Amino acid sequence: MNWAVATYDSAFGYVSAHGAPLIDLLDPQPGERVIDLGCGTGTFSAEINARGAEVLGIDGSREMIAQAASLHPSMSFAVGDAHDFTVAEPYDAVASNAALHWMTRDPDAVIAQTHAALRPGGRFIAEMGGAGNCAELITAMQTAWRVFGLDEPELPWYFPTPAEYATRLEEGGFTVRLLEFFDRPTRMSEGPNGAADWVRLFAPEALAEVPPEIAEPLLDRINVLAAPALRRESGWVADYVRLRFAAIRKPNSSGPLPEPGGADAETSWPSSAPTPALDPM
Ligand SMILES: C[S@@+](CC[C@H](N)C(=O)[O-])C[C@H]1O[C@@H](n2cnc3c(N)ncnc32)[C@H](O)[C@@H]1O
Repeated sequence: MNWAVATYDSAFGYVSAHGAPLIDLLDPQPGERVIDLGCGTGTFSAEINARGAEVLGIDGSREMIAQAASLHPSMSFAVGDAHDFTVAEPYDAVASNAALHWMTRDPDAVIAQTHAALRPGGRFIAEMGGAGNCAELITAMQTAWRVFGLDEPELPWYFPTPAEYATRLEEGGFTVRLLEFFDRPTRMSEGPNGAADWVRLFAPEALAEVPPEIAEPLLDRINVLAAPALRRESGWVADYVRLRFAAIRKPNSSGPLPEPGGADAETSWPSSAPTPALDPM
């Protein structure tokens, strides 16, 4: 997945704004050690840090981590894949905002690594896309692909139901203390070209598979298809559905801590990627 790193904070500022309540759910305490998993440019990490906690931001994108490190030079950031990151000493909490649904290879592995990174009683606090997230956008996208005679695109997201993710957490050695599942219609304030901009920004790999001469008409068609559900007089609104949870690592579910280090994600995020301004996901 190629992110528009250079404009992430201006185009994506709302991700962090919407993540604001998550900081209260996390309730970081001075001196606590917290991992921000899928930290992006480190905005949420900085919020955690501002509460006095020591933060390690981990992200699969070198470009995101470089940007985070340059924006927050006093904080720690590392490139790592959430599916197989490891830490030397257990942490008090792992937090994650708008990132778990991008970690599609093996959700159980992400939960297992998070479990391994936490001390017994440590907390896993996150918000992610839930089942039905962006359903109208995705349907418009799939329909447009079919209209142009293309095979439906492979989608790079994992949007679980609350029951599914709670089961994974419980089977992964966590006690679920809170699980919320809610609609969050989100104004695409930065994306004047609506659903088309959303596809450009969040599904560039799928778009790259489309013959170039079809790309623009296909994007136009997506806008036509999505407009009845998502276009208001005041602008485009994305049909976000969120899953937010607080889970505690069970005291008796300890396992050997892995060796320090951490593998890089397979993702790369060239800053030369197209950078349409659009609210993020
Ligand atoms: C929508 S951004 C959210 C960033 C940040 N948490 C925020 O609130 O602004 C999703 C982030 O997840 C990261 N990511 C995706 N897959 C990942 C993986 N397997 N391991 C680590 N980070 C990953 C991406 O690089 C990206 O920075």
